[in-house]
Amino acid sequence: MAALLEARAVSCRYGERRALAAVGFAACAGELTAILGPNGAGKSTLLKALAGLIPCEGRALLGGVCLADLPRREIARRIALVSQDPPVDAPFTVLELVLMGRAPHLGRLALEGPHDRQIAEQAMRDAGVLELASRPIDQLSGGERRRAFLARALAQEPQALLLDEPTAFLDMGHQGQVLEHAARLASSGLCVVAVLHDPNLAATWADKVVLMRSGSVVASGPTHEVLTAAALEDLYGARLVATRGVAGEGPFFATIRAGS
Ligand SMILES: Nc1ncnc2c1ncn2[C@@H]1O[C@H](COP(=O)(O)OP(=O)(O)OP(=O)(O)O)[C@@H](O)[C@H]1O
Ligand SMILES: [Mg+2]
Repeated sequence: MAALLEARAVSCRYGERRALAAVGFAACAGELTAILGPNGAGKSTLLKALAGLIPCEGRALLGGVCLADLPRREIARRIALVSQDPPVDAPFTVLELVLMGRAPHLGRLALEGPHDRQIAEQAMRDAGVLELASRPIDQLSGGERRRAFLARALAQEPQALLLDEPTAFLDMGHQGQVLEHAARLASSGLCVVAVLHDPNLAATWADKVVLMRSGSVVASGPTHEVLTAAALEDLYGARLVATRGVAGEGPFFATIRAGS
C-alpha cells in the first residue's frame, strides 16, 4: 500500500541540538501507526515535521507530494495534529474551539454554516465532550481539555490525523475510547499516527509500530513483529515480561523489579 505520509531522510535541529537524524518513516491510509520511544527520542518533532510545522532537511511528503510544494491551507485541510501540550489558556468555549477546526474548509471570511455545526457536534460526541460544549477551555480538567482539542482535530475531517500522546491525562476508560475511535477512523480510511507511551495500548490498537531512540527510527513494521519484550527492554532499558490474555490476546507487557 502506498504511504500517505512519508519522511525521507528528515533531519531537524533546535539550534545546536539535533532532534531528528535522517529519519525514514511511512504511514498508510487505513492504518493506525503507533510511535513509541523514550522521552526526548524525537517523536513529537517527527509529528511536527510530518505536519509541515517545523523546518527540516530531507523531504516530508503527503500523498507523494513534498509538503514544501503544497499551499499551507491545503495541508491544514488534509493533516490535523493534536499536540502533546495544547494551550491551557485558550479563551474559547469547547464549541468555539471545535468550530475552529472547520476553518481550513471555509472560504476566506466565511462563517461556518449548519453543515459545519453538525460536523462539530459529531466530533464533540466522538471525543466525549458534547456535554462540555459551552464550557470555557481554561476551566476544564487536563483530560477534558485534551479531548476538546481532539474534537477540534476530528472536526477538521483530515486525511491524516496525528495524535501526540492522545491518552496522556486520560483515565483508563477514556484511553480505550480514544484509541478505539482512532482505530475506527483508520478502518474507515484515515491515516492515523499516534505517539504512545503505553506499549499495551499500541499492542491492542495499532496496525504498525515505529520505535524511535535518539532522533532515529530503530525498528518499524507490523505490531506483532516489532513489539516484543526484548525490543522494549532494549528501547527503554527496563526489565519486562510479556504475558497473554486468556483468549491469547496480546502480548501485554509489564515492568518488573530488577533482580526478580
Ligand atoms: N523547542 C525546543 N528547543 C530546543 N530543544 C528542543 C525543543 N523541543 C524539543 N527539543 C529537544 O529535541 C529532542 C526531541 O524532543 P521531542 O519533543 O521530539 O521528544 P519526544 O520523543 O517527543 O519526547 P517526550 O516523550 O518527552 O514527549 C529532545 O532532546 C528535546 O530536548
Ligand atoms: Mg513528545
